[in-house]
Amino acid sequence: MARAESCSGVGSPQLTDNWPGYSLDLFCYPAHYSGDLDCVFIPHGMIMDRTERLARNIMDELGDNDIVVLCVLKGGYQFCADLVDRIKALSHNSQRSIPMRVHFIRLKSYLNDCSTEDLHIVGAEDLSFLAGKNVLIVEAIVGTGKTMKALLEHVQAFRPQMIKVAALLVKRVSNTWAYLPDYVGFEIPDRFVVGYALDYNEYFRDLNHICAISEAAKMKYKI
Ligand code: HPA
Ligand code: MG
Repeated sequence: MARAESCSGVGSPQLTDNWPGYSLDLFCYPAHYSGDLDCVFIPHGMIMDRTERLARNIMDELGDNDIVVLCVLKGGYQFCADLVDRIKALSHNSQRSIPMRVHFIRLKSYLNDCSTEDLHIVGAEDLSFLAGKNVLIVEAIVGTGKTMKALLEHVQAFRPQMIKVAALLVKRVSNTWAYLPDYVGFEIPDRFVVGYALDYNEYFRDLNHICAISEAAKMKYKI
């Protein structure tokens, strides 16, 4: 269910606008990214712990029915893999094991650190197998919510029984969102972040933590 105005009350951890992050010296990260990052915004372990809880919330709500997971590539692959892993573990340990299918679609709307107007959806041409199913869309990050709103309209046309959206991050790009996910990992300030499969021009997907990118790196990897 979409929520209109604000994320507060959704019950996700909120990183405040002045959140400084953690010093890079306190964590391990790939040497090839030294100089490219400002700080560790969300350590990998915390992402995993939060994901486990989201999986539980999802199972509590959707666990009575078969689930079709729609993983939004590319940024959503790591979150989706870890979330599906946790849902599977809960499902296998419960009274009734839940069949789950995973399908992949690809969205592209970013160049450098800017959102472009044109949204491309790839792999979503024929989603007729979603008819009557419970669908869980899994996305890494929601900004204004416009992209997700467009995707939802696209998916709804295939008449699933229910659609829920899980996003690891919701970014405070303004006071209002066009769409807010049903399950939110963390609400974060309006900063460009990378890591845990989130990229800047395809770099940084191989970084485990979610980090703030340095201005120098934005220049270095600009296209
Ligand atoms: N990082 C990476 N990809 C993104 C972001 C971000 O902060 N926002 C939207 N797509
Ligand atoms: Mg990207």
